[in-house]
Amino acid sequence: MLKKVTLATAIAATALAITGCQEEEKAVGIDPSKHTDALFAVMNADRTNYTKYIVGRLGPKGADAVMPVEHWKDVDNGVPLPAQMFRLGYESVSEVTDDFTYSLQSIWPINSQNAPRTDMEKEGLEYVATNLGKNFYGTETLGGKDYFTAVYADVASVKACVSCHNGHKDSPKTDFKLGDVMGGVVIRVPLGE
Ligand code: HEC
Repeated sequence: MLKKVTLATAIAATALAITGCQEEEKAVGIDPSKHTDALFAVMNADRTNYTKYIVGRLGPKGADAVMPVEHWKDVDNGVPLPAQMFRLGYESVSEVTDDFTYSLQSIWPINSQNAPRTDMEKEGLEYVATNLGKNFYGTETLGGKDYFTAVYADVASVKACVSCHNGHKDSPKTDFKLGDVMGGVVIRVPLGE
């Protein structure tokens, strides 16, 4: 596996290097994994802070002012859950750029829309769930285009993650523990032209 990831990164770096040669002034390309690592750092910070400081501080019942709840649109004072907040983020991003796409997924999704769609997404989610502390990097061809695909573990950082998922009627897994990998963030960057 390690070999494969290294090879994939090398292929991706080579592809970028080739692109770089065509535009000489921009000869120094960014290593795609550094690019996606940086994007992930921003996403993860937003996500953790929203969960910790908004959802965590309000508690499952919320305050008088707002209540984080799955069907937040149907409740007067409802606000989105962390995963929904994250999706709102990538929906907004997709309106301004197609230089990269990202999504929050899981092999044990509450919402079946968040299940992996490509073989590489599935492989990456399985990899981060079983190789603690490691990221997954690969390249895949979709619709004739090459992509660099990175997968980062989404970890149960607070108790609320575990209790809500374990108790949710649509969750296929009910024994998550604090610190477990519950899913992953998939970031995809197109390679070359
Ligand atoms: C109050 C309930 C609640 C809390 C708290 C919560 N989640 Fe979720 N989570 C959900 C629901 C509901 C969805 C599906 C939302 C959707 O896609 O519309 C979801 C989606 C997800 C997904 C995408 C896969 C799936 O299950 O659909 C991941 C991964 C995830 N949550 C991880 C976490 C982590 C990690 C935390 C803590 C940082 C957390 N969740 C906190 C309810 C919760």
